[in-house]
Amino acid sequence: MKTCPWNLEGLFSEAPFRWAAMNVPQMAPVLAKLDDMAGHGELNTVKKWWWDLELTEQGSYAPSPHMVNARALQKDLDLKYADQTLAVYPAPLAPHPYPYPALMDREAGIEAYQAMITAEAYQVKSASGARDHLHLYQNDQEAPVIQMIVDQVTQSVGAVMKYRLVAVDGADLPLWTAGAHLDIVVAPEFLRQYSMCGNPSDRSCYEIAVLLEPEGRGGSKLMQRIFEEGRRVFVSKPINHFALEASASLSLLFGGGIGVTPMIAFAHELDSAGRHFKLMYSASTQASAAFDSDFEGQPWAKKCSKHYSDQGSRLDITSVVPPYEAGIHIYVCGPNAYMTSILDQARFMGYPDIALHAEFFAVPDMPDWVNFPFEIELNDGQKVSVSVDQSASDALIAAGISVDVKCSDGLCGVCKCTLISGVVEHRDFVLSAAQRETTMILCQSRAFHKNAVLKLDI
Ligand code: FES
Repeated sequence: MKTCPWNLEGLFSEAPFRWAAMNVPQMAPVLAKLDDMAGHGELNTVKKWWWDLELTEQGSYAPSPHMVNARALQKDLDLKYADQTLAVYPAPLAPHPYPYPALMDREAGIEAYQAMITAEAYQVKSASGARDHLHLYQNDQEAPVIQMIVDQVTQSVGAVMKYRLVAVDGADLPLWTAGAHLDIVVAPEFLRQYSMCGNPSDRSCYEIAVLLEPEGRGGSKLMQRIFEEGRRVFVSKPINHFALEASASLSLLFGGGIGVTPMIAFAHELDSAGRHFKLMYSASTQASAAFDSDFEGQPWAKKCSKHYSDQGSRLDITSVVPPYEAGIHIYVCGPNAYMTSILDQARFMGYPDIALHAEFFAVPDMPDWVNFPFEIELNDGQKVSVSVDQSASDALIAAGISVDVKCSDGLCGVCKCTLISGVVEHRDFVLSAAQRETTMILCQSRAFHKNAVLKLDI
């Protein structure tokens, strides 16, 4: 089959042949063979598939400098209809029109293909006034994103930029709670998560801070380059997988570097609720501390301490984590080594996992997990096998079951699913110990035992 970027490059570009192929479909295979024999329609190396284009440093799209899956025409292929599995996506299966990921349901697409009717049958149905054969697009779901304006951009030290986002019409923004993050559509292929660092009671704006990661995957670099004041952007509604424990009598907030952002929101929320807390902000040098002056003037400033290694005030972890007492909760976010040392010290001081809350930005070092095959049992009794080199989410998606996946690293919590029965080896970095009793993260966690069955609420 010749499709873009071969189309109209050969014999079929000649009008009579094209007419013949379209009006006498039986002739099409013969004409295609003729086209091949004449050596027409070979790959046009100037044309590119859109997915072989990449966003450049300059912000334009250009052919990928990496190896792409290009191959010439395979003229000796003997394609048989019975061997084809084609998915089509008629209008009712089309994704929502927003620049935000939407899962395509391949199984539904294959069903749609198999249910296709002939042009004659279509005409007969239409003439009879029937409507069940029409493919009508409906977009009645709530938009997963909000359009916002970048209202203020502040260059801070330490390669951090701070952004203030407001609604396009200036209206109040959806409510949020401290610990929430936003999915920012930096560009269609750059969806990035950033913790909200403003005051949850202020509904006029959302605030985030972005650390430039020169060796990252390009999202922060692109964002710092193109998010200028006045730019219209798409942003998800606030999503919270790092909420405060409402019953805490004392909340200890530890923020290392850019990891202090959710702690600032926590401080606002705890202070306005009149609850007891302390915030400890750490950075290697004062000169690189992007939030050094952010606590000044806040009603809760006295509850904050700053710890800079180059100033000799480095956080003494052994003295700031008190022995565990029921009601104390610890929240930590920052570089992995910083988080690990605080969490280790807390465990040493007797803190149970339920009192420890951590938000990871990057996947910490992992143990050498051994994968076993296992099965997932769904609510309707259907079983889905998960092989050793598949994740549970991959296996479910391959079986045509819709699963939301965002980070694939066990960090964001989007693929959380209710566990009905079975023993899980939890490999995520987002669920609390209590949550792990009834839920699992499908992109990483697996059955603990070989060939075991996990019953999920799907
Ligand atoms: S997709 Fe993010 S935790 Fe699974």
